[in-house]
Amino acid sequence: MALQDAKTFRDALSTFPSGVTIVSTTDDEGRHWGFTASSFSSVSMDPPLVLVCLAKKADSHAAFLKARRYAINILAEHQEGVAMHFARKGEDKFSAHPFRYGTAQDPHPPVLHGSLASLHCVAHDAYDAGDHTVLVGEVAHVELSEATPLVYFNRGFRKIDVTPAQLAA
Ligand SMILES: Cc1cc2nc3c(=O)[nH]c(=O)nc-3n(C[C@H](O)[C@H](O)[C@H](O)COP(=O)(O)O)c2cc1C
Repeated sequence: MALQDAKTFRDALSTFPSGVTIVSTTDDEGRHWGFTASSFSSVSMDPPLVLVCLAKKADSHAAFLKARRYAINILAEHQEGVAMHFARKGEDKFSAHPFRYGTAQDPHPPVLHGSLASLHCVAHDAYDAGDHTVLVGEVAHVELSEATPLVYFNRGFRKIDVTPAQLAA
């Protein structure tokens, strides 16, 4: 059976609730790059691998193909504004948000303060996949905090009703 059309495909994808991430890196010239992504997924436990899919037409595509390190920052519910900002092209994305940057002594990728979790990834593989590239990263370090997640569902940002007690259980 053939796929009906692109709209039906998009409608089907919009039924899948996901978290929202900011994927961030710094290139060899010290320029920061980042984009909003909901295509994040865990891949493997041993070694610890995760993936995110990046559109080939993204301004940051070349930078992420070359990047040795990047962070995947899983957003908390109060970070909807960051998600919107990093989904716009041609913006100064970084200066308005509280990132912690790597140094020569500690060259980690940009880490977004206030995220639910930040995964420090070392580039493992990149796979060509239609109009996207699948970036697979090995997680070298994790920063975790306690908060409720930002959710993307049915083409909009949502919040889930979870109490601190439920989070701790
Ligand atoms: C909720 C949400 C999820 C998104 N997920 C992805 C994604 O998984 N992969 C992707 O390439 N773009 C995704 N985008 C679009 C990019 O964030 C957007 O195209 C961004 O402008 C790319 O940045 P750049 O062109 O400056 O590199 C998403 C946008 C939103 C609002």
